[in-house]
Amino acid sequence: MSVLVTGGAGFIGSHTCVELLNAGYDIVVIDNLCNSKQESLNRVEKITGKKLKFIECDIRDRAGLDKVFAENNIDAVIHFAGLKAVGESCVKPLEYYENNIGGTVILCEAMRDAGVKKIVFSSSATVYGEKNVSPLREDMPEGQTTNPYGTTKLYIERILKDTYAADNDWSVCLLRYFNPIGAHKSGTIGEDPKGIPNNLAPYILQVAIGKRDHLSVFGDDYDTPDGTGVRDYIHVVDLALGHVCAVKKILGEKGCFTYNLGTGIGYSVMDVLHSFEKACGKPIKYEIAPRRPGDIATCYSDPSKAKAELGWVAERGLDEMCEDSWRWQSMNPDGYC
Ligand code: NAD
Ligand code: UFG
Repeated sequence: MSVLVTGGAGFIGSHTCVELLNAGYDIVVIDNLCNSKQESLNRVEKITGKKLKFIECDIRDRAGLDKVFAENNIDAVIHFAGLKAVGESCVKPLEYYENNIGGTVILCEAMRDAGVKKIVFSSSATVYGEKNVSPLREDMPEGQTTNPYGTTKLYIERILKDTYAADNDWSVCLLRYFNPIGAHKSGTIGEDPKGIPNNLAPYILQVAIGKRDHLSVFGDDYDTPDGTGVRDYIHVVDLALGHVCAVKKILGEKGCFTYNLGTGIGYSVMDVLHSFEKACGKPIKYEIAPRRPGDIATCYSDPSKAKAELGWVAERGLDEMCEDSWRWQSMNPDGYC
């Protein structure tokens, strides 16, 4: 079986490529490398001892996609390609709508015309909005998104649901990720953010490695056990294994399925900081700062649907996530460079 992985050179994509190759799938990766380097895929090949096919291609390039489908016998698509910076999406909404939504529509048209109607999509817990109370379940109503990035996830979910409703020959799997962190055990692939990291784990890592002075903890007056924000951090390798289960599901069954991929456990900013301190064996400087606009107090999943229907459970805990992230960061202080 052959899987086309869009955005496969990125953080989650590269880890998923490892697990797909380990599970025996052939893979073709397309990526425009706007937020990644091809080196990640060289390392995927080293980790697995297997080859993959990389084609530099943008998902908005219809002719390029047609060629990819014509020249490769693709059975299913995992669609990671997209822009993902929340703050940037508020400054450049049109770029986000065009790349993420426009790109997905073009990809799906090319898939339909090539007769490949099986897709796994990278969605996000952000689609639950601010009002639903954790643990978040797939049968809760979607909420109001607070930024254009989140809105692209919500709209793409709708576009894929409508595509299935109009043609039951499709098989669609919407995976709602919680907070992916961690890295492959080898320390050779991991998250390689450009510029100042927006997210907690990469920021802490840059403080730990000496690139930034301190972490700003955004708010310590939330209604949570220690006052700092609580999230459902999930090891990227567990997340990657969730995709292998999702591909198996859509290869075997038609339908439109939605699953949370999380651990079901909420950890605070201070929990994460302390776990990183243990991993790197030194204190990490922090200061309490004002709340970040748009943040909610608590967000964690009910992962029971994915367990019941995909047979998937996240197995790696917070300390392992931090140890593996630290190994990647210390072995690659400047990322893939
Ligand atoms: P990433 O930026 O590392 O990977 C995305 C990849 O897509 C990059 O390699 C980039 O070069 C590529 N890409 C972007 N636009 C493209 C285009 N038009 N054509 C071809 N390639 C393109 O991000 P990631 O963290 O690996 O995220 C993967 C997916 O998961 C994204 O869709 C993201 O929105 C989603 N997601 C991520 C998180 C998270 O916290 N990391 C949470 C929820 C959902
Ligand atoms: N935080 C800090 N300091 C920082 C960065 C983050 O205190 O420098 C805190 C935040 O306030 C929050 C927690 O750490 O309480 C996690 O923040 P992240 O930015 O790492 O993650 P978010 O939960 O805000 O957002 C992530 C993804 C989004 C996605 C969302 C829901 O970045 O793309 O999860 O899935 F939409």
